[in-house]
Amino acid sequence: MAQLLISGGAGFIGSHTCLVLLEAGHHLMVIDNYHNSSPEALRRVANLAGPDAANRLNIVEGDIRNSDDLDRAFSNNKQDIEAVVHFAGLKAVGESVQQPLLYWDVNVVGSCCLLQAMQRHRCRTIVFSSSATLYGYPTQVPIPESAAVQPINPYGHSKAAVEQMLMDLSASEPGWRIARLRYFNPVGAHCSGKIGEDPRGIPNNLFPFVTQVAIGRRQELQVFGNDWPTPDGSGVRDYIHVMDLAEGHQAALDVLLQEDPQLLTLNLGSGTGHSVLDVVKAFEAVSGRSVPYTVQNRRPGDAACTVADPSQAAARLNWSTHRSLLEMCQDAWTWQQNNPKGYSTLD
Ligand code: NAD
Ligand code: UFG
Repeated sequence: MAQLLISGGAGFIGSHTCLVLLEAGHHLMVIDNYHNSSPEALRRVANLAGPDAANRLNIVEGDIRNSDDLDRAFSNNKQDIEAVVHFAGLKAVGESVQQPLLYWDVNVVGSCCLLQAMQRHRCRTIVFSSSATLYGYPTQVPIPESAAVQPINPYGHSKAAVEQMLMDLSASEPGWRIARLRYFNPVGAHCSGKIGEDPRGIPNNLFPFVTQVAIGRRQELQVFGNDWPTPDGSGVRDYIHVMDLAEGHQAALDVLLQEDPQLLTLNLGSGTGHSVLDVVKAFEAVSGRSVPYTVQNRRPGDAACTVADPSQAAARLNWSTHRSLLEMCQDAWTWQQNNPKGYSTLD
């Protein structure tokens, strides 16, 4: 079993991936500054992962832009860090338009600092959280990894810059083992309802907004456009259950650690699209609650339809998604009901 460093491990995707990796027997060191997360998430991960898991989960509260924090995270372990799973970063598209330098600093400078620390500590295996946002307005759907990288906002530019940084590094020095994983739309929660997505303030994304409407925290959903060139006129996305995504990270790590050094670039999605109205209907079915909505103008920067071609991930990782839209809604609903205010309400 490997000693792994997980940056941003307290966050939404990081916490679910920590659970999967602990259950697989790995030793984890998490570095997180809790900018967008709570220490409670990792306490619950340790509880869910079983009796001995707490001994295999260590945490440094720190910032990936701070080399001292990173050195502490790399050094405070019995074994050397074998691989890094790099989630830490900022992800709000609108905020990135308002504060581009913040996004270049945290996402790009932060990733550079992390890679420099990896060089100092002779670790050359990394799984990076990239995004389907790289594809901008896609010219073909399903989208293959060979599609043009043409981001349309600073968040997307920051992900493209880190992807380039990783490619330059792998070309400069043999021995790097790198996976650039382009996530489509991660949603849902662990089926226990103990960990899930806990956005601060008004959610930007569809799923947390829908769950908050169903629980009564928000009055109604605004559907951004019903005149898209899609079957029902609302936007279509490739939603991926966060536990499928977490298992995708485990699969990528296994391949990187077992095979020769390489640079992998893979879409992680289901290959199936669902519209906003499909999500509303599925959510109403599992929750028994109604999700009132009004139709608004299209949201600037949205594409009509983004769906992954997931065949490369299936071929290279022997991994594919298996949880349905109904399971995504059910698990998000269980999480929301058990934690109406997210992690700020202790159970
Ligand atoms: P999240 O905000 O829940 O998790 C990110 C974590 O990183 C948080 O715990 C946060 O506190 C931490 N963090 C932020 N800045 C940090 C810093 N400077 N130093 C240390 N820790 C820091 O987000 P998430 O949804 O779990 O996303 C994880 C990664 O996946 C991000 O890089 C994101 O851009 C990428 N991604 C997310 C989505 C999505 O829709 N959720 C889609 C594609 C890609
Ligand atoms: N939508 C609504 N109402 C809302 C929120 C969203 O109708 O209140 C619609 C959007 O217009 C879109 C769909 O729901 O058609 C999904 O929107 P999200 O905001 O949930 O997700 P996006 O596809 O816009 O983007 C998300 C992340 C990005 C990431 C991308 C791909 O926010 O950071 O998935 O991974 F890059």
